Amino acid sequence: MEQLDLTSDQLLSTTRAVRKRLDMDRPVPDDAIRECVAMAMQSPSGSNNMTMQFVVVRDEAKRQAIGDIYRQCFDVYRSMDGVYAGSIKKETEEAQAQQMRVTDSAEYLAEHMGDAPVLVIACSKAGRLDNVPAMRAASSMGNVLPAMWSFMLAARARGLGTCWTTVGLMMEQQIADVVGIPYDEVQQACLTPIAYTKGTDFKPAGRADPDTIIHWDTW
Ligand SMILES: Cc1cc2nc3c(=O)[nH]c(=O)nc-3n(C[C@H](O)[C@H](O)[C@H](O)COP(=O)(O)O)c2cc1C
Repeated sequence: MEQLDLTSDQLLSTTRAVRKRLDMDRPVPDDAIRECVAMAMQSPSGSNNMTMQFVVVRDEAKRQAIGDIYRQCFDVYRSMDGVYAGSIKKETEEAQAQQMRVTDSAEYLAEHMGDAPVLVIACSKAGRLDNVPAMRAASSMGNVLPAMWSFMLAARARGLGTCWTTVGLMMEQQIADVVGIPYDEVQQACLTPIAYTKGTDFKPAGRADPDTIIHWDTW
């Protein structure tokens, strides 16, 4: 597939959570998804044992069913004070305005998840993570999360937008049932819509100085 002319730093700094600018009407070719998964498969995996799995949902009835579940989860999320994006207060006016834009955008996706031409669920087949020790949890998720981010970067390079979501995990089993994921053996990590973006100009987000989160030599 044709790729945008972006440097690696531009790709890394402009791969945003895209919601309102997803073109819900333009089909996404299977080969574009295949190419993004091929890039995802270049990511690291614990013990060189790849447990990542991608469920690619094109079927309209299944997408709408997942969209309905996501909306129900979002209704619960909206009531979670301190967790819901709209309830988090930022220190500066600028940061607060950004937070409100994120909230508005997330509300939009909650209404339209099922309308995306394709939904992708990233999973690990290394078993469920309910109550497992940190090392196993980190290793299992570590086999999926870098891969999924590579998938999203590869998508952006091809003019496609994605949005990392985890709110749907509140009803993970119901989502599993829609697409036949064996819930007892497979852990979902992330659900994303994927669609061509309306325009391809995305900007780096405003972020704090790196030194605010670096601990040189000591925490
Ligand atoms: C772990 C994780 C969970 C997220 N869950 C959701 C979600 O459920 N719904 C949603 O709309 N966005 C979700 N997001 C996207 C964030 O809202 C987004 O990354 C953040 O607002 C920063 O925006 P940016 O990625 O464009 O810089 C999630 C992101 C991460 C990393």
